Amino acid sequence: MKKIAVLTSGGDSPGMNACIRAVVRTAIYNKVEVMGIMHGYNGMIGNEFIPLGAKSVANIIHRGGTILKTARSSKFTTIEGQQRALENLMKHGIDGVVAIGGDGTLKGALEFGKICSIPFVGCPGTIDNDLIGTDFTIGYDTAINTVVEAVDKIRDTAESHDRLFFVEVMGRDAGLIALRAGIGVGAECILMPETKTDIETLIKRLNSGRKNKASKIIIVAEGDEAGGAFTIAEHVKRRLPDFDTRVTVLGHIQRGGNPSAMDRVNSSRMGFAAVEALLAGKSGVMIGIINKKIAYTPFENATKHTQRLDPDLMRMLDILSL
Ligand code: F6P
Repeated sequence: MKKIAVLTSGGDSPGMNACIRAVVRTAIYNKVEVMGIMHGYNGMIGNEFIPLGAKSVANIIHRGGTILKTARSSKFTTIEGQQRALENLMKHGIDGVVAIGGDGTLKGALEFGKICSIPFVGCPGTIDNDLIGTDFTIGYDTAINTVVEAVDKIRDTAESHDRLFFVEVMGRDAGLIALRAGIGVGAECILMPETKTDIETLIKRLNSGRKNKASKIIIVAEGDEAGGAFTIAEHVKRRLPDFDTRVTVLGHIQRGGNPSAMDRVNSSRMGFAAVEALLAGKSGVMIGIINKKIAYTPFENATKHTQRLDPDLMRMLDILSL
């Protein structure tokens, strides 16, 4: 292996830069050249390749976003797009690729593997934590800490006004941000796509809670099947007009910011392991960390399932939010 390429694709996540840095420096240590591909798979199709050296990744470990930029590529789902991408990889003499991204990125790599024999290794970059094969994806820890910091502030004002707040967090297919951040802020209720949201049960719960509770925080994952925070809050307001209700949608603030220490370390470990995996002849696998150890999961297993919510966490949540 003489030359590899690295790209980031899909939604950005804090820690992607730390992962890029680890890929570049590990490759250079092993006398392998590195090209960065800008704008994910779109840049592979559009020939946006740039050389990366040890210095090009200096002072990025602490920065959110991605220096390689990112995109969600619809062109890469077409055979024409994939052929163009393959031609460009060959033109640049690329012997291996590290793709950093979430479900869509790994599915793209899996599909591309049908026409491309150049080895691909993935690193799980998404704030959603919705991939099988790793305990924590790159960016998840930072995102939940961002949510906790924001909701703590909301709790202050909710408490002062005796208000009920619905706070919407990211996760269109997964409620893992909602679940962990919700536990971290002591939410009264967490609504997620993985569990059935029944407005009647929610109303009963709000009515049956401690009567002298000043503030109530309901965390709503954006993908909840009953609708977003605004829709659910409307239903509740109609049924409980005496509650002083407000809605906050946290939005893309959850994707930015300096990565947490945990994200920096995990991202570095995964980028390092990705290059070592390519050098060891591995391909078609996502690097993850399970029980503190590096794990290799075939792309199709990493993306095929949704993570099951931990039933112990769910049971604890109900008891602690009384
Ligand atoms: O996949 C990460 C994520 O942040 C999801 O939680 C969210 O639903 C989605 O990306 C938003 O994507 P975009 O930035 O393209 O609107």
